Amino acid sequence: MPINFDSTPNRRDPNVKNKWTWYPNDVLPMWVADMDFPAPKPILDELHKVVNQGVLGYEMPSQSLQETVAKRMDRLYRWKVQPDSVVAVTGIVSGFNVAARAFGSKKKGILVQPPVYNEFHEVKNNVGISQVNAPLVKRVDGNILSYEIDWDVFKKQVKKAGIFLLCNPHNPLGIIFSRKDLLQMAKICIENNVLIVSDEIHSELLLDDHTFTPMSKLSSEIAQHTITLIAPSKTFNVAGLFCGFAIIPNEKLRLRYDKEVNQLRLHVSSLGLHAARIAYSGQCDGWLKELRRYLTGNRDFLVNYVTEYMPGVRTTIPDATYLAWLDFTELKLKKSPFDFFMQKAKVAVSDGKIFGAGGEGHVRLNFGTSRKILKQGLDRMCKSLY
Ligand SMILES: Cc1ncc(COP(=O)(O)O)c(C=O)c1O
Repeated sequence: MPINFDSTPNRRDPNVKNKWTWYPNDVLPMWVADMDFPAPKPILDELHKVVNQGVLGYEMPSQSLQETVAKRMDRLYRWKVQPDSVVAVTGIVSGFNVAARAFGSKKKGILVQPPVYNEFHEVKNNVGISQVNAPLVKRVDGNILSYEIDWDVFKKQVKKAGIFLLCNPHNPLGIIFSRKDLLQMAKICIENNVLIVSDEIHSELLLDDHTFTPMSKLSSEIAQHTITLIAPSKTFNVAGLFCGFAIIPNEKLRLRYDKEVNQLRLHVSSLGLHAARIAYSGQCDGWLKELRRYLTGNRDFLVNYVTEYMPGVRTTIPDATYLAWLDFTELKLKKSPFDFFMQKAKVAVSDGKIFGAGGEGHVRLNFGTSRKILKQGLDRMCKSLY
């Protein structure tokens, strides 16, 4: 039976703080990265089953869950992962902060590629290490934006770093880095003894017929220098259950990482573990296929809308994720586009500034919602501008 992504449940429960209740009721939320769709039925059935059984005691990640994760990597990418190299983490933000705590040093910083996911910029404060930026370079073609790596900058900045925190697919730009770029980044990192932490949380949210290759899959040498972070949270819209995985083929790195996870007692909730097992089992892949088709339709709708009705505004055409990156710099608004749309359009987007260098004058818009809500948000924004 086809899944009806056009219908989304009401999430405005005043007792709950979430995407829909964070701002006043007249504001349409298109900010934080969760979708408005219910999770796939097999996951919900499993959660109902666990709750109905009644006991919500402690549970630990099982060998069978590690095997499920490893099998999924093999099925999706022909990437052979040893189940023992899979470490459960309480989400991907915890996952990369743990890596920075375990492997960061005062002498060498953490390298990031802004404008990039806001939590990447918090690591330096959380862990007390420096941040090194290798900004992606913006290219403009008509009203379409694309970004690329400046290799001279990357090579120069990597020398100041001990860890490279890669976001692939990239939030907020929606880029899937090419094999060639990944190989080049990895080569430079390995030559400079820089550990790669690859945040691949968006890797299953592929649009059109795009494919994805995990950094670690590229060679066994790269795998030995890489911590891969994945989660079912974005893909299957179960982010509130906080369950992710670090895949660490290098035993020495894994033992050190595991020690940090255990010291901090970063235990995943039992419901998170159950959801992850079902999400990665393959039972939800039909749902995911339909989701990707729907999100691709939303992306196209948004790009066409901006092109047709929003002169002076530029947009990316994301390869993955449900995040669009809109550039309002040409319009010379009197305030930041975030404040402008909050006040004039009653639409909450994510302020480009929080993504670091190059984010000023831009916003990130979450199109992981029904087409109707997406249109409503764009209509409100358009009306407020012209
Ligand atoms: C690139 C990236 N990493 C991590 C996260 C959040 O991960 P978690 O909720 O598992 O900590 C997000 C959420 O938007 C994200 O976009």
